[in-house]
Amino acid sequence: MTSLGNGPETSGAASTGSAVPTIGVFDSGFGGLTVLRALVTRAPQAHYAFIGDTARLPYGSKSRRTIARYAAQSARFLVEEQRADYLVIACNTASALALDAIKEAVPASVSVIGVIEPGAEAARRASKTGDVLVIATDATVHSHAYAAACRAHGLRALEKACPLLVPLVEEGWIDHPVTAEVIRIYLDELLAEAAAAGLNPDVLVLGCTHYPLLKPVFRRMIPASMRIIDSAESAADKLVMHLSYDLGTPPPAALDDSVMKFFATDSVEKFERLGSRFLGRSVGKVELVDLGG
Ligand code: DGL
Repeated sequence: MTSLGNGPETSGAASTGSAVPTIGVFDSGFGGLTVLRALVTRAPQAHYAFIGDTARLPYGSKSRRTIARYAAQSARFLVEEQRADYLVIACNTASALALDAIKEAVPASVSVIGVIEPGAEAARRASKTGDVLVIATDATVHSHAYAAACRAHGLRALEKACPLLVPLVEEGWIDHPVTAEVIRIYLDELLAEAAAAGLNPDVLVLGCTHYPLLKPVFRRMIPASMRIIDSAESAADKLVMHLSYDLGTPPPAALDDSVMKFFATDSVEKFERLGSRFLGRSVGKVELVDLGG
């Protein structure tokens, strides 16, 4: 069994046994396509199967038990039906609340990579003051998974739920005055809370896979010296480290012959229509799947 820096968010050995690994990517919706985009850029030679559990989105307002049940079903679909060798949990909420349930749902040989630990590691590398801000869904914030992961890296994290942002992004209101105003209000509150707590934050972690689409808006509204950490990028870096380690050689730079399959549990037309904004290229055909109750 191989292992590479297996922290709380990685598991499995993923000896793929084949030259071209299949990477299963899972999100509650299609925000996780931002993670897939980062993955394809770094490992264009792999095959990808992406599932968005659009019928049951949002996860961010649901209980740990429900999120764990839903996430385990998607994980099993990717491993049993799509033959995924690796699983990337491209959803902060599922990574925060259901990572153990996902690992238990699939064979130990499948490497499972969440987005929280890579995000915290990247925050540690970026922060000079040791104080970071994290924005995420309600469920992720209340799990305090980021605070715990940041603490393990010697950082102090102030977390804030921004529940209005996911529906705005899902609606495609990326460059929209309403979205900008909502972000401004959230950031004003967060920066005021940080000041009241005596923190001197120099990093903002986007702890939700929908938020990278709003990065230019965040950039305009936070101090120029503050770094933005996109957990999608950090998780993709982590997976590539696994691939390089498990396959013995670094992935080739840009073969661009990746094979991508897309699945959703509902709203396939919306996925096909809006998915390209997240992926940066056409999504093509999205297959409807029924994961059960
Ligand atoms: N994908 C989720 C995340 O990254 C946000 C959407 C949801 O609430 O399901 O936390």
